[in-house]
Amino acid sequence: MDNVQQQIESLRKELEQHNYSYYVLSQPTISDYEFDMKLRQLQDLEAAHPEFFDPNSPTVRVGNDITKEFKQVAHRYPMLSLGNTYSEADVSDFYERVRKALNEDFEIVCELKYDGTSISLTYQDGKLVQAVTRGDGEKGDDVTANARTIHAIPLTLQGDYPAEFEIRGEVLMPWSVFENLNKEREEQEEPLFANPRNAASGTLKLLNSKEVFKRKLDSYLYYLLGEDLPADTHFQNLQLARSWGFKISDATKVCKTLQEVFDFINYWDVERKNLPVATDGIVLKVNSIRQQEMLGYTAKSPRWAIAYKFQAERACTRLNEVTYQVGRTGAVTPVANLNPVQLAGTVVKRASLHNADIINGLDLHLGDMVYVEKGGEIIPKIVGVNTDARGADLGPKVEFIKVCPECGAELVRGEDEAAHYCPNEDGCPTQRMGKIEHFVCRKAMNINIGSENIDLFYKKGLISNSADLYELKLEDLMHLERWGLKSAQNLIKSIEDSKQVPFERVLFALGIRYVGATVAKKLAQGLESIERIENATYDDLVSVDEIGEIIANSVIRFFKKEENREFVNRLKAYGLKFEMSNDMVEQMGDALQGLSVIISGTFERHSRDELKVLIEQYGGKNVTSISSKTDYLLAGANIGPSKLDKAKKLNIKFLSEEEFEQMIGEK
Ligand code: IVH
Repeated sequence: MDNVQQQIESLRKELEQHNYSYYVLSQPTISDYEFDMKLRQLQDLEAAHPEFFDPNSPTVRVGNDITKEFKQVAHRYPMLSLGNTYSEADVSDFYERVRKALNEDFEIVCELKYDGTSISLTYQDGKLVQAVTRGDGEKGDDVTANARTIHAIPLTLQGDYPAEFEIRGEVLMPWSVFENLNKEREEQEEPLFANPRNAASGTLKLLNSKEVFKRKLDSYLYYLLGEDLPADTHFQNLQLARSWGFKISDATKVCKTLQEVFDFINYWDVERKNLPVATDGIVLKVNSIRQQEMLGYTAKSPRWAIAYKFQAERACTRLNEVTYQVGRTGAVTPVANLNPVQLAGTVVKRASLHNADIINGLDLHLGDMVYVEKGGEIIPKIVGVNTDARGADLGPKVEFIKVCPECGAELVRGEDEAAHYCPNEDGCPTQRMGKIEHFVCRKAMNINIGSENIDLFYKKGLISNSADLYELKLEDLMHLERWGLKSAQNLIKSIEDSKQVPFERVLFALGIRYVGATVAKKLAQGLESIERIENATYDDLVSVDEIGEIIANSVIRFFKKEENREFVNRLKAYGLKFEMSNDMVEQMGDALQGLSVIISGTFERHSRDELKVLIEQYGGKNVTSISSKTDYLLAGANIGPSKLDKAKKLNIKFLSEEEFEQMIGEK
């Protein structure tokens, strides 16, 4: 074997092993830095030797930008579901049925029922070849590219594995990742995921595997299928699968009696709350494969297994009122106001009703006794109505409001959208004040003013939009109730200081829908000035790193409105920063004067940040989106295919790391 090929393969093996120690065993054996260095070395070798490409190389874990529809694939063995039970009596019945049918000793394997989305993985000769979702049980979506980004799913196996087999399990979004994701979505006013299960299945079906990679999914495997499995019990097969590199739950236990099964259920009903991922029950499986075959299947599920579902924590209470909240972008959210009730350790007074469809689906009436659940969700939700409790005093059916509770404008509902919006963007006081609150917040302009004072100033007619803040004078404030010279001075200073806030945060402060802090940063880096953003075409916008269709259209919509352009012009006149500054960079030379350079890929001798500084030190501009105005593409290994294509189309000159060094005289 070729020397390079050997080196590539040994790096791949080594990295896969580290990956396993880190993500499956949670026992890393090298530092993250060392791992990154080795990964980078492999990336460079692979880039230089495309002939040794392998779809299962550890370098593919970061995903790619290629967007494609999912191919539908038929399952070799149908993906069945499990019969559900909810009581100990049901579990006893299952146990008895199995005993009678087998008429011999048997063992039950108890497992946690992971609450994610199921996946079926096919391995051939120790390599992951396909990952398919459950779909309708007969055929599912081929999500292999996405599954490859999940570190807990091994790409190549170790040890003595069968030549070909399938293994099934659950793809999960850990609680911590779920909570962060929702926080981010809230900030950007995107619809929240109701629970980690929805978030996991939504993520697995994203068309861009790079996005999937960022969402940090996890996976547990619990079912091995194949023609000749290595062991004759389910438990033993799982232990072997663990030795090949799969993440198998440590909770899995062989039970010899019904009592042991109950003990397992009772233990995990409490202990599961300490797990990093969501579980919603226990799965009981007959251990012996021979006995499983004897018991067989019904049309929908195996007779040798059953799921026991934990009771979701639920309370019943009266619905007093439905109120509606209007956000800064006009989205209207219905909120149920309840008689306070104890649920899973907290008192619940309000619950989310999400949208009009949910309200109609529940046939909700005021005064109804409603069931509230916290199972898996952060915000409690109403899951049902006790219609038997309805009496003569039942109130009217809850009808979603037609007009904005704040300004009276008729609400609109976008096509294919569940949410209602108040379209009166410029006249609705709540939206106007919401926009000011957003403008001043810490991550935006960081102006030290609370929402009560924004309310006060608004009502007193001192401000009607954020630009008016810059017109405030000491004497406007000093005489207000609870204001004095000191507090007025502080606010004026804080407003003055905000003029130094960097462009990316000013851009975020504008409150363009879908332009959260991260997106604003990308846009600011990519297009560099408000003029370029204002006048950007759709293509200009989507060529910026991580800017997609929805954001691009939202930016275009924002700047189409004359009022918004005027608003920006006023802010400009007050001296806010509307372009990227590079005053910080000490000039070393002018070799790149007036040239714009885009960096792509990974490099041997410099990090991307170092290169960025070098470009600026030599008078160049580092841009992050390609346009006809870009002079050079500083190209490392593993350039994203879309960037490569675009650079070629626009005839942009490529520079290697070495050529770049020569240009600036570093070598
Ligand atoms: S075994 C034929 N084991 O629950 C048996 N399923 O309704 C196949 N699930 O679709 C499933 N944890 O998504 C099995 N330890 C576990 C499980 C589990 C979660 C899910 C799985 C399946 C559903 C069954």
